[in-house]
Amino acid sequence: MLASSIEELESRSLERIAAARSAEELETVRVDAVGRKGRLDQFFKEMGKRAPEERKSAGQRLNAAKQKIEAALESRKAEFARAALGSRLDAEWLDLTLPAPGPRRGHAHPITLIQRELEELFASLGFAVLDGPEVETEYHNFDALNIPADHPARDAQDTFWLEGGNLLRTHTSPVQVRGMERLGPPLRMIAPGRTFRNESVDASHEHTFYQLEGMMIDRQVSVANLIHFMKAMLTAVFRREVTVRLRPGFFPFVEPGFELDVQCLLCGGSGCPVCKQSGWVEQLGCGLVHPNVLRTSGIDPDEWNGFAFGLGLTRLAMMRYGIDDIRWLQSGDLRFLEQF
Ligand code: PHE
Repeated sequence: MLASSIEELESRSLERIAAARSAEELETVRVDAVGRKGRLDQFFKEMGKRAPEERKSAGQRLNAAKQKIEAALESRKAEFARAALGSRLDAEWLDLTLPAPGPRRGHAHPITLIQRELEELFASLGFAVLDGPEVETEYHNFDALNIPADHPARDAQDTFWLEGGNLLRTHTSPVQVRGMERLGPPLRMIAPGRTFRNESVDASHEHTFYQLEGMMIDRQVSVANLIHFMKAMLTAVFRREVTVRLRPGFFPFVEPGFELDVQCLLCGGSGCPVCKQSGWVEQLGCGLVHPNVLRTSGIDPDEWNGFAFGLGLTRLAMMRYGIDDIRWLQSGDLRFLEQF
């Protein structure tokens, strides 16, 4: 009687252990079966009332049943623990070999790309890369460049004047002056940077744009030298032979002064909207440094001369990448920027 009840309890408990779906359910089974006031405990108590012969065999059965149930509880408990660990590892894994989730990779701005290329090119030709302030003195932006106060060229460059007499530089040419002051002759320098003019903004005009200034001072520098460097520069930027032409151009700080045009790369010179049907695109101003400019910065024009040029980096970037509206460049629009 007792024996069959024990057997029944054992097999019931084993079934319930196997069927338990969680550690909590398992615990209920445990308390019920082998807990201090559980079913097995009741059998032990009852056994005490039995005759000694019966007690012995019933005791063995009870202990055997208890061991079996406890073993089953243990292994089921271990299964739950393994499963819990498994799902935690699934949720909390950490792969130390993955690349760190740093900031998204950026893109250099098209103007920066061109600027860096030109810096490398000119550095390889022995030119120093100089920086100058964007807030300039009137002296560096105008006077030292042979543009006196009453000169119409000052009006031609619609200047943003600042309180106190300084200004936002209207070109990178003041860095010529700073280069001559700091380094003296012989001098090979370029100065890329941001420039400002009070213009109304449209598809081809911005109040803020980029130029690259260049200057070479040595003995017996000629227009032929100038043309050579300009062609080397433009060939490198456009990655092909370019045809250039010089037209007379007026800048007070050079004499003679030129406008240098490049034969339109889009139509090959036959005329298109980009070159306004002329076949040529105005690319830069240049010339031989005016003796007054050398003298003002303490360089003897009888001993030294040189060339200077000022290139519109913004326009160059537009030509190189086929950008048809200057306003894209400062729009900060990622749809535009991510193309480079
Ligand atoms: N500074 C002139 C401009 O901005 C360009 C230039 C530079 C012309 C050097 C001649 C020599 O228009």
